[in-house]
Amino acid sequence: MVLEILTRAARLLPLLFCAAAADLPPGSRIDPTAERFPEQRLRSEIAGGRQSYLVALGNTAFSSPLLFGEPARSAGLSCNSCHVNGHNNREFHIPGHSARPGGLDPAGPLFNRAADDGVFAHVDIPSLRGIRFLAPYGRDGRIASLREFARHVIVVEFAGPEPTPEILDALVAYMNEFEFLPNPRLAGDGALTGPKSPAEAAGEPVFAARCAGCHVPGTAFSDGRAHDVGSDGRFRTPTLLNIAESAPYGHDGRWADLAAAVEGHAPLPAPDRDALLAYLEAIGGVEEPSGPATFRGEMAELATYVGLLDETLRRQDVPTTRFVVGTVQAELRRVRRAFPDGDAARLAARPDRRKRLPLDYAALEAGLEAVALRAEAGEAASAQVALDAYHDLAERMVANYPRPGR
Ligand code: HEC
Ligand code: HEC
Repeated sequence: MVLEILTRAARLLPLLFCAAAADLPPGSRIDPTAERFPEQRLRSEIAGGRQSYLVALGNTAFSSPLLFGEPARSAGLSCNSCHVNGHNNREFHIPGHSARPGGLDPAGPLFNRAADDGVFAHVDIPSLRGIRFLAPYGRDGRIASLREFARHVIVVEFAGPEPTPEILDALVAYMNEFEFLPNPRLAGDGALTGPKSPAEAAGEPVFAARCAGCHVPGTAFSDGRAHDVGSDGRFRTPTLLNIAESAPYGHDGRWADLAAAVEGHAPLPAPDRDALLAYLEAIGGVEEPSGPATFRGEMAELATYVGLLDETLRRQDVPTTRFVVGTVQAELRRVRRAFPDGDAARLAARPDRRKRLPLDYAALEAGLEAVALRAEAGEAASAQVALDAYHDLAERMVANYPRPGR
């Protein structure tokens, strides 16, 4: 009798462990904050175009927990959790695995026990803006290509299945679109333009003499080489563009602000240091670094992902159809966490709509499921009908929240 209970319990045990592993430690913050959503500029959109199929697929994959294995997948983690809109996530924090907000130990035991190097080493999440100018990759520049880096992240760090060549191509095509946000004060060669404050003017020659050998002015302010600047190892020179809003600094976020970063390289006489700081703030500045996330913006982004389905259905590409559907379903859950009531103020005035919203989120998820199920059954035409119904519903849902900007 006892034996029977024990064997039954033992059979249940793996299940219990699975369930526990799916949860991140209490207090984990992996979703981007809705109040401070980094702006993003894509090359094709600047050129006035739309995202190509491959870029849109990469954009979708970048937000997809389905690339990863457990527990990252069930936790809803994606590239975009950490590299929000291609930038970083200063609030990201997993108790026990992050030494401070904004990073984690990427070779720790949490996401892939087999890849745990046994050393707790917090790494600050880097921005990926301008990433195509910043090879070789990784804080220490150990990986030559973006493609290899992406594969490494998926398979090694997050225990995901081997990605298809198309998904890797798509991720690379998407990341190659990431531009630095514009800084109207900088010319293409990295020189400050327009009127300069006395401190900025004094900082420019100090920078040229003491910093420009590694932070080479120009497209990226980096020589692409690894150096030891006294921060416990050799690291690839980071860019100085768009850094005004990306504190903390250094590979492990050891420098809380720009003053600490400058001081951390080598002590300077105070006047030089103050002038350098003024100069750094000018070259690292961004016009509009971030804004609040909006329900409309989130739904427009999802519409880009869902737009892929017209093409995947036409191609009868069932695996990609399922991948896009699964990704958008996971994203809908994240959007629902960020906007549980949509535009709360407006909904408060319309109780009938408040009641409808949760239903609509569920209906969107179910509508997409119908698309995937029909595609899997080989019924492309009826999948298309389900897709049209989804579009109608999504449009009505957005129209329910008409306050401009939200
Ligand atoms: C849990 C947070 C997290 C997730 C999820 C994540 N990254 Fe990263 N990413 C980091 C950190 C931390 C680093 C720095 C790691 C290092 O230097 O080894 C990094 C580095 C990178 C770099 C190199 C940047 C540089 O300046 O050299 C690229 C490219 C990159 N990630 C792409 C991705 C892609 C693609 C995904 C999804 C498949 C992804 N990341 C998912 C945290 C994350
Ligand atoms: C020998 C090459 C070299 C020189 C010279 C140099 N740096 Fe750096 N700099 C680096 C490296 C490498 C790092 C990254 C260190 C790390 O990640 O721990 C870095 C990091 C930084 C950062 C932090 C950026 C970030 O996003 O984390 C700032 C700011 C910076 N340097 C400014 C300067 C200034 C100002 C000077 C001149 C006083 C200077 N550097 C001189 C190589 C150099």
